[in-house]
Amino acid sequence: MTALTLSTAAAPGLRVDAIVVGVAKVTGSASGDLVVAPGAEAVDKAYDGRLAGVLETLGASGGEGEVTKLPAPSGFKAPLVLAVGLGALPEKDGSFSAETLRRAAGAAARALAGTKKAGFALPVEDAADAGAVGEGVLLGAYSFDAYKDIAKDAKAAKNGKAPLGEATLLGGKPRDKAFKAALERATAVSEELNRARDLINTPPNDLNPEAFAAVAQAAAKEHGIKVQVLDEKALAKGGYGGILGVGAGSASTPRLVKLSYTSSKAKKHLAFVGKGITYDSGGISLKPAGHNETMKCDMSGAAAVFAAVVAAARLNLEVNVTGWLALAENMPSGSATRPGDVLRMYSGKTVEVLNTDAEGRLVLADAIAKASEENPDAIVDVATLTGAMMLALGNRTFGIMANDDAFRSAVHEAAEEVGEAAWPMPLPEHLKKGMDSPTADIANMGERYGGGLVAGLFLKEFVGEGITWAHLDIAGPAFNEQGPFGYTPKGGTGSAVRTLVRLAELTAVGDLG
Ligand code: BES
Ligand code: MN
Ligand code: ZN
Repeated sequence: MTALTLSTAAAPGLRVDAIVVGVAKVTGSASGDLVVAPGAEAVDKAYDGRLAGVLETLGASGGEGEVTKLPAPSGFKAPLVLAVGLGALPEKDGSFSAETLRRAAGAAARALAGTKKAGFALPVEDAADAGAVGEGVLLGAYSFDAYKDIAKDAKAAKNGKAPLGEATLLGGKPRDKAFKAALERATAVSEELNRARDLINTPPNDLNPEAFAAVAQAAAKEHGIKVQVLDEKALAKGGYGGILGVGAGSASTPRLVKLSYTSSKAKKHLAFVGKGITYDSGGISLKPAGHNETMKCDMSGAAAVFAAVVAAARLNLEVNVTGWLALAENMPSGSATRPGDVLRMYSGKTVEVLNTDAEGRLVLADAIAKASEENPDAIVDVATLTGAMMLALGNRTFGIMANDDAFRSAVHEAAEEVGEAAWPMPLPEHLKKGMDSPTADIANMGERYGGGLVAGLFLKEFVGEGITWAHLDIAGPAFNEQGPFGYTPKGGTGSAVRTLVRLAELTAVGDLG
């Protein structure tokens, strides 16, 4: 992955392939509509103070994420200057937001694919800004090449678009504790988030539940996290009817992975639960063509939980975090669960499966019930759970449901702080009736309208008595089928990783809610 360093060097003398500067829009200024953002003064000076004018001539508008490349001024070691748009210049005395910097750094880093080294002269006022730029660079430079020739062929990598190799952030304070910590945090979070993206992008013939569990086991070992894997035999012995029922149709057997990160200084305990359907064909209620091509992404919740637990360990957070990965492949076969079957869940409740494509709630119900036994201070589950949530919130915003209004707000705030778009959703009691089953305690499907909320209400039934719980439905933002934007690539995005890490951080310092 891209290497990140801080430097006090001046831009002209920096031995890099490109210098990145920020450019912003101003309205109603006599001197033009563009302004070079703070941090790039030395670069602007080398263009005799005319960089904004030059960029305007080249057609730049300063719009968010817009990239303009131009030859570096004479006297520069770097041959190229890359101007990235920051959008509107903040009001007088205002600053660019962390998310603006993160997105701009991400867009610039992606545009620098095929480049070895770059210097970033963006407007960094404090350590938090440096962290945001660092995160943007590491997340924006990401690309998934494991199945392409550039992964194994050096020549192809050179001609093609290998990710940016090294990024030097200018304008920071390399010896300052806060700056160092911000970069370390950005590196740990981004590396784990990118690993979650790799897992999501890995084709389902290579990432089945067993393979995912093996990856989790290896990472846990590396980072001093306790790990326990329940295979199909252990799941049968333990009575995990939900996970087994969903996995029953697949030649690849299901797993439940428990990752326990503990800190000797912890006062609180969080449990994260992730939906890990390594492929969702729909099962016997088979999805039609057009709805299954991207269903390798259906383990994005488990990938986010895995990444967040490892990041918490790397950051030595003073909180105990348990991650539960509910892993299964949802396939149709002679041994598959049928619509009409009744499953006896881990909690003891019975569920009539009316639609085998509503499988996520079945694996999550078992994992949530199991997680509840440890009486954590809160449970947060993450899942690509419903198409209905995508219809409601689009493909960049995840829905937050909870059994506690204050906790739902706290999760929403945490998401906002790290730049993840999220929105609170209700759990209206009256929708529960739709899940009444003539045969079992509950059915796995209810009314069509409000389908995302129905799924949330189903999960709520499996949360232990008195435990605070939130549910993140990331079906929209988990997988980006459109073009890349900001620091978000095409494909797996790593949605919810940063929100979970933030929740762990806030819980560690006793600031949650
Ligand atoms: N994994 C899907 C939800 C999904 C859809 C995620 C699109 C990402 C993109 C989930 O298992 C599913 O199939 N849900 C059904 C539930 C329905 C049968 C009650 C849905 O949303 O249609
Ligand atoms: Mn499904
Ligand atoms: Zn699914």
